[in-house]
Amino acid sequence: MSYQVIARKWRPQSFNDLVGQQHVTETLRNAIKNNRVAHAYIFSGARGVGKTTAARILAKALNCVKGPTPDPCGECDSCKEIAAGTSLDVIEIDAASNRGIDQIRELREMVRYAPAASRSKVVILDEAHMLTGEASNALLKTLEEPPDRVIFVMATTQPEDLVDTIRSRSQHFHFRVLTFAEITKRLEEIARKEELKVEPGAMAVIARMAEGSLRDALSLLEQARAYCGDTIPDEEVRALLGVVPEDALDELVGAIAEGSADRALGLVHTFQKEGRNLQHFCREAIRHVRNLLIARVCGADSDLIAATPDQRPAIAKAAALFSEEDLTRFFQILLQTDDDLRRKPDPRVHLEMGLLRLIHASRLAPLEELLAELKSGTPGSGTNIGASRAGLSASAQARPVAAQAKTPAFESTEARHQSPAPHAPGTMSAPSEVAAPKGQGTAPRVHGISVEQVAEIKAAIQAQQKFLGELVEHGSTWELEGPELCIYFSPDKHAFAEMIGGRESLEKIRNVSSKVLGRAVRVCARLESVAAAAASASGPQDLRTRFERDPLVRSMLERFGGKISEVRLRQEEK
Ligand SMILES: Nc1ncnc2c1ncn2[C@@H]1O[C@H](COP(=O)(O)OP(=O)(O)OP(=O)(O)O)[C@@H](O)[C@H]1O
Ligand SMILES: [Mg+2]
Ligand SMILES: [Zn+2]
Repeated sequence: MSYQVIARKWRPQSFNDLVGQQHVTETLRNAIKNNRVAHAYIFSGARGVGKTTAARILAKALNCVKGPTPDPCGECDSCKEIAAGTSLDVIEIDAASNRGIDQIRELREMVRYAPAASRSKVVILDEAHMLTGEASNALLKTLEEPPDRVIFVMATTQPEDLVDTIRSRSQHFHFRVLTFAEITKRLEEIARKEELKVEPGAMAVIARMAEGSLRDALSLLEQARAYCGDTIPDEEVRALLGVVPEDALDELVGAIAEGSADRALGLVHTFQKEGRNLQHFCREAIRHVRNLLIARVCGADSDLIAATPDQRPAIAKAAALFSEEDLTRFFQILLQTDDDLRRKPDPRVHLEMGLLRLIHASRLAPLEELLAELKSGTPGSGTNIGASRAGLSASAQARPVAAQAKTPAFESTEARHQSPAPHAPGTMSAPSEVAAPKGQGTAPRVHGISVEQVAEIKAAIQAQQKFLGELVEHGSTWELEGPELCIYFSPDKHAFAEMIGGRESLEKIRNVSSKVLGRAVRVCARLESVAAAAASASGPQDLRTRFERDPLVRSMLERFGGKISEVRLRQEEK
């Protein structure tokens, strides 16, 4: 037998073989069983996810000598011909290159006469959305009066571009992109059958690069075999596909955690020297940060992470270095960098700028800590200091020792002396705390209400509506004064405050709180303000002096090398 590429050789021959499209195959199987096969189908979905394959299996199922059956035998002449692509019962037309009216007329002629007794013709129109308007109309006529035993399958990556009249006459199935796990499993199966030895790391790279398309995955495997032979090592596949070595990503994460611009820029320098594609690196960094973010939010064993089991412990470890907010910020910065790399000349400069922004963003994180410091140090605020420390964002707690050590200015501010810090600086990032699960140690500050009551309210909200429960979790202070219960959010959490601020959410919180507190209360969500806190802290000095003396402001100036240009109260603080 002549040489066949892997993707073609292992084209699924039965519905059961088709990976990840059970929602489609089950419906088709039932239709065949119950003799309810439609005249026209739309199979939509990304490239290489099984649309054409499913259409061919449908043809087999209808024409098998044992059929129509959902499980064609695969051995009769009809099954074999269809598998070999030589059957007259399957007509495959590429609508992208046969988009005109003449071709569709021809097609109508072809299908006008019923196929040989007891057989069905399956017409597969690939890229059906490319048909011209005229051709679509001609096709529509055929669909309106479908010839006996002719089934049209319109395969398309852009179903929204099909004309409505065609859509409304067809049954529509959407083929989904395949997950990393589905692709690796199928790759492993085929590698075994082909007697290829593929290192797990190489497998992961191929599966990731395929971005949900099994055909792409198999083509990459083919390419790797051509390059490496029957043993396919991780390193060579990375070189072949221009993928960034894993340790470069580790180096990047290390540089961010440590806040080292040197190390980050060193990476760009090395890439440039090695002639690597900088955009590739940025894309890989985006994928990596996405994995870390998912590990942080859903746990490192989540299916959503594109990684093999043996890569997961390292991902969990790296994810624990940053908070959810940090990682979200990194993700956004990298997306912006990717955009810059794509659209602007001089990729090196843009990558460097992007990495510097990452480093900068990771240094910014302790701001949340500074804000908390300031508020806890405010005299007369009745603040519970222990709770305020515990209420720090995970970013501050999870920062590695190295990064903590790099912030001497912060450690020596007056704020330190004014407010007894419950932890010595170095102990804050003890490894056991690094891995502390989310949700622990996030007690907010309270005034006029007890920590237990707040916890009870939060639990009740969580039970009613998980999402709302998560939002209130971000509140940093709960204050009950008279009939008013106010949840304060730090300025960087304004999005949460806004989301809670809707009438319905507030109403829910009000109901729950009134029940817990045993009396009717009003509820509001507000932003905390730095200036207001500072103003109440010291007497009637002029605003600028107060600000200049403020430990938070001073430590920020010291650390970021800034300058106060103007001090203003915001409208609502006047
Ligand atoms: N769901 C799947 N299960 C198993 N193999 C698949 C699947 N999807 C694709 N393949 C593999 O990829 C090859 C190409 O698939 P197919 O031609 O069905 O894709 P398609 O969705 O029609 O893509 P296109 O939009 O590019 O035409 C198949 O021969 C098969 O080896
Ligand atoms: Mg196809
Ligand atoms: Zn058969």
